[in-house]
Amino acid sequence: MYRTTSCNSLRTEHVGSTATLAGWVNARRDHGGVTFVDLRDREGWTQVVFRPEEFPAVAEAAHGLRAEDVIQVTGKVSARLAGTENSKLATGGIELIACELTVLNKADVPPFPLDDPKVNEDLRLEYRYLDLRTAHMQRNLKLRHRVVKATRDFLDEAGFLEIETPILSNPTPEGARDFLVPSRLNPGSFYALPQAPQQYKQLLQVAGLEKYFQIARCFRDEDLRADRQPEFTQVDIEASFVGEQDIQTLVEGLLTRIFKESRGVEIPTPFPRMAYSEAMNRFGSDKPDTRFGIELTELTDIFTASQFKVFASVATGGGVIKAINAKGAAALLSKEQLKKWEEWVKTECGAKGLAYVKWSAGGEWESPIVKFFSDTEKAALAERMGFAEGDVLFFGADAKLEAVCEVLGRVRMRCAELLGLLKANADKLNFLWVVDFPLLAFSPEDNHWVAVHHPFTRPKAEDVPAMDAGDYAKVRAVAYDVVLNGVELGGGSIRIHERDLQAKLFSVLGVNAEEQQVKFGHILKAFSFGAPPHGGLALGLDRLVMLIAGAESIREVIAFPKNNRGVDLMTHSPVEVDFKLLREVYISSTAKKA
Ligand code: AMO
Ligand code: AMP
Repeated sequence: MYRTTSCNSLRTEHVGSTATLAGWVNARRDHGGVTFVDLRDREGWTQVVFRPEEFPAVAEAAHGLRAEDVIQVTGKVSARLAGTENSKLATGGIELIACELTVLNKADVPPFPLDDPKVNEDLRLEYRYLDLRTAHMQRNLKLRHRVVKATRDFLDEAGFLEIETPILSNPTPEGARDFLVPSRLNPGSFYALPQAPQQYKQLLQVAGLEKYFQIARCFRDEDLRADRQPEFTQVDIEASFVGEQDIQTLVEGLLTRIFKESRGVEIPTPFPRMAYSEAMNRFGSDKPDTRFGIELTELTDIFTASQFKVFASVATGGGVIKAINAKGAAALLSKEQLKKWEEWVKTECGAKGLAYVKWSAGGEWESPIVKFFSDTEKAALAERMGFAEGDVLFFGADAKLEAVCEVLGRVRMRCAELLGLLKANADKLNFLWVVDFPLLAFSPEDNHWVAVHHPFTRPKAEDVPAMDAGDYAKVRAVAYDVVLNGVELGGGSIRIHERDLQAKLFSVLGVNAEEQQVKFGHILKAFSFGAPPHGGLALGLDRLVMLIAGAESIREVIAFPKNNRGVDLMTHSPVEVDFKLLREVYISSTAKKA
């Protein structure tokens, strides 16, 4: 037996007993011959004392201990001297007076001090097994476990079956690029790693399993950022004979349980619902952060006859002008900074510009465009925007409503950060359902309509006539996203379960009959054998745990993540492979690294 108990279990009531602990040397301190070791295991740490007068050989050996050595210590639990207790530590009332020491393994000096918050992330990822020893990473992984456990318990109690689906599968369109795996047994053929188990979970409904869930690994070859990984985990759910309310109520129950068990908070349900169009119009985002205001306000009517030609031509040409008021931002934004923001919207957000009006306390309106505004326009603008001293207004003008909303939505988030509104509202949990998404969006690059969610999503019954009439922009989907504090936690929809409707939608998406057979023949065929009405949703588990942990990136809640170039810095994958291996899977050439 390596140990009788953990490093977080001894208390003053154990004084006088003998215990054996095993773990890592967190720190060693020598004080006039006496050596103190903070001994750490997964549960916590205990102070171990090596006294030369009682056990000289053991104390001598303790001098040689270094941080991260793995040791086993037996000793007597003793009360700490009055005044030396550590009230911040669960074991702070006691210490272990060592009488035996076994060094189980020596450790080299770690490449970085563990628990130093400023360590470069690449270094942490290269030595992830050391990084995972830190208290906050252990806390995050324990939290992740709790969330998964609560999920399994809740869904099991609700009658859902956990069913695994293939990783080697065929392409499922979720809007990203597929990772491909060559099949040695089928020369020239490839599996795709699933972007989501979407088709399988629907086929499980055709199969009559009725209530399915899976903690599912998904793979998407897309550009990475703080809340995206090439492989990530979904809590994937699908059920038969349900409508959107059923799925939403189920997910609210699940999230309530998760937050209660992982964070000890009650979240109020039902969550507010907001139509996609309202979310875009008011917040400039389909995943609005509703913890603060700075809402978008329409100004088109004010500027129809303006001398500022950009606005006048947009306003009279059927376009839209909107603005936001960053209250109190004037003191925080110099002219140079405003120029930088303008550059940023042009290069990063694809906007034509970012007109502004700044009103410093006790000053005049400062703006490159206000000289063109009439007094009437100024008065109307100030009134509608609630413009006051200390504020900055930002404008967006474009022929397309969505373009204006998206740009101002991003400027809004930047203002919130500048004004400290994200920090000030960090404790709020604003859940929201965004509903009534458009079913289709026109893709200028592909020159045809694409599915906003995925091609299995059901059009709203009342919008089917618009679809039949070819008025695709008007067709809304029975789709819903659950949003928390501006992060899209999950998305789902009620599905098409009729073969003919599914085939029709594929045609709208430009998939001709022959291609439908090749790519989706299996699901169309399945739908002709009695598919029940069904729907579901998938939550991004990594994002959920990130928000519960208060972390800034999903990499903080994944044991072995990739960096933002898709590289595992610890194992160095992806790696170049031997020519012979490629030949075995019938790949004849490959691009070499530059
Ligand atoms: P969707 O594509 O919206 O829906 O994905 C569901 C949720 O998964 C999370 N997510 C990601 N997390 C980390 N890294 C990524 N690259 C990544 N991509 C997505 C998000 C997102 O909300 N099959 C549908 C679900 C359904 O219709 O039932 C689907 O996958 O939190
Ligand atoms: P310009 O007349 O192009 O020099 O622009 C004057 C100011 O208006 C600059 O601050 C631009 O960034 C801004 N601007 C120009 N076009 C737009 C637009 N479409 N939306 C918002 N601001 C704009």
